[in-house]
Amino acid sequence: MDFPPLVGFLNGRFEPLADLQISVLDRGFLFGDGIYEAIPVYNRHPLRLTEHLRRLADSLAAINMPNPYGAEEWASLIQKLIAQQSFADQSVYVQITRGPAFPRNHAFPTVTEPTVFMFADELLPPCKEAVANGVAAVSAADIRWLQCNIKAISLLANVLLKQQAVDAGVAETILFRDGYLQEGASSNILIVKEGVLLAPPPSNLMLTGITYDLVIELAKQHNMPLEVRAILQQEVLGADEVWLTSSSKEVLAVVSLDGKPVANGLPGPLYPMMYDYFQVFKNEAMRLGKDK
Ligand code: PDD
Repeated sequence: MDFPPLVGFLNGRFEPLADLQISVLDRGFLFGDGIYEAIPVYNRHPLRLTEHLRRLADSLAAINMPNPYGAEEWASLIQKLIAQQSFADQSVYVQITRGPAFPRNHAFPTVTEPTVFMFADELLPPCKEAVANGVAAVSAADIRWLQCNIKAISLLANVLLKQQAVDAGVAETILFRDGYLQEGASSNILIVKEGVLLAPPPSNLMLTGITYDLVIELAKQHNMPLEVRAILQQEVLGADEVWLTSSSKEVLAVVSLDGKPVANGLPGPLYPMMYDYFQVFKNEAMRLGKDK
């Protein structure tokens, strides 16, 4: 594998990504024992950084790990990382593991030296074609654990589920558990029914996306009818619109599910409205250098 020419961060040091090395005994490597964040950056301004750092802190607390930095220190390190890349729009990846430990033992080590790793890759917005015409998805039973609210690096189930989409030549796998919509393999899912935007309520069975929260906020701000409530699988199959949201995909319309069109197979009337609200918010926030 050729290393991309990016600057990364490991345990306090900024260095070319190719030069960063961690121990083979790292618990992130051996157990998937760690958490992560993916933060979108537009024109070198991180979007909703406070919220991403809050979710990072929540994930750390949920796995009983101290936060290695305060919010201001995180913000300053992330800005330093952003400043060292050649592109303006970036996706900042932050990962903290419970660090190296020996002997290999499932239980926490008595002394923990966390591994803190970051890198920033170029963020490319979804292509115009996907925005204009929507994307396809497949559905699958949610085979993940019961703490999907933690942004854990142990993503084997998500990886397998996402591969089902790739193998089917579509963009996402939409997950259902006990007859209810949860989310996508790497995104949140919202639907529209009879002019009302429906969003599944945050729970331990889904990751509450920062983009999901922003879309709900924008719906409220623009008086788009909205209900946050449990959504039946049947309701998704008969939805007027299905949307997916994530930090890398922003908001996309899902126009086909398991090979069948969603409604008439085109993005519905609310989608372009939300897409515009999102772009206006993003551009305004970045122009003003703030996102509140
Ligand atoms: N994934 N649900 C899951 C399972 C996810 O992996 C993601 C994001 C989301 C959306 O969260 P947000 O809006 O905060 O990006 C929901 C990121 C992009 C990733 O794993 O790279």
